[in-house]
Amino acid sequence: MGGIATVGVIGAGTMGNGIAQTCAAAGIAVTMVDIDEAALSRGTASIGASLDRLLKKEKIAQADKDAILKRVRTTTDYAMLDGAELMIEAATESEPLKLDILRKLDALCSAETLLVSNTSSISITKLAAVTSRPEKFIGMHFFNPAPLMPLVEVVRGRRTDDATVAATEAFARQIGKSPIIVQNSPGFVVNRILCPMINEAVFVLQEGLASAKEIDEGMKLGCSHPIGPLALADMIGLDVMLAVMEVFYRDFNDPKYRPALLLREMVAAGHLGRKSGRGFFSYP
Ligand SMILES: NC(=O)c1ccc[n+]([C@@H]2O[C@H](COP(=O)([O-])OP(=O)(O)OC[C@H]3O[C@@H](n4cnc5c(N)ncnc54)[C@H](O)[C@@H]3O)[C@@H](O)[C@H]2O)c1
Repeated sequence: MGGIATVGVIGAGTMGNGIAQTCAAAGIAVTMVDIDEAALSRGTASIGASLDRLLKKEKIAQADKDAILKRVRTTTDYAMLDGAELMIEAATESEPLKLDILRKLDALCSAETLLVSNTSSISITKLAAVTSRPEKFIGMHFFNPAPLMPLVEVVRGRRTDDATVAATEAFARQIGKSPIIVQNSPGFVVNRILCPMINEAVFVLQEGLASAKEIDEGMKLGCSHPIGPLALADMIGLDVMLAVMEVFYRDFNDPKYRPALLLREMVAAGHLGRKSGRGFFSYP
């Protein structure tokens, strides 16, 4: 079994460079495309820094680092993606932007190319519909940091065919990930469960049932979670959490997904979590 030998990654940001590194570490030749030269340099630097950490922990040798970096070529020219067996779109989370990128990629695809999106919140079925071959379109939802997190949700759109699902699952395993196959739906599976749980923790805090510290202690010690829901919300960013719950509330049209008022208040106050120095906890 040969597997995939060439991959195109579109977007060199947090997820794009992590996915590029993951593929290169599995021996795949990667072309990483961004519209911004500076983003490509930052992406490459970020891969270098990530590999340095692995080097320091003796998980890889210097020769591995050099070989992995050599397998990632960067460009602002989409034409360089020509010939890639699989293309992963990991650009900024904006629907019109992604539709535009996918139309361009569609024109570069051969009949066999697998076209993939790493979107967190946009419908795979909707993205597939702008391409000429929706049956070869699929989602691969990686988790951050992509080189370290084992899970990939392989997201099947309404028109994705069985062969594409099987090939994508095999590719996920080829790059060392553990895939789960899920149907397209807002939040897929993991965020669908995780985000309402975090939102419920905010309701519990809002109702004064326990302090933030006690709520997190409860979930850590009672459910063996490695981190409490409120500390996790601070890590994700409260603005991101609010946006996700707004999407669930709107797309499922179900009041059970309404964001907690306290979450809205925290965001309005600029208390966004770690990145602003204050959320449910303080980060001096
Ligand atoms: N950050 C996460 O935790 C996470 C997890 C899973 C999935 N995702 C998804 O991954 C995608 C990327 O997220 P991110 O956090 O890496 O964002 P990011 O902002 O770090 O990177 C996005 C990159 O896309 C580039 N870009 C914009 N327009 C482009 C274009 N037309 N062509 C090529 N590149 C373009 C930007 O210059 C930027 O470098 C989003 O769809 C997001 O929902 C994010």
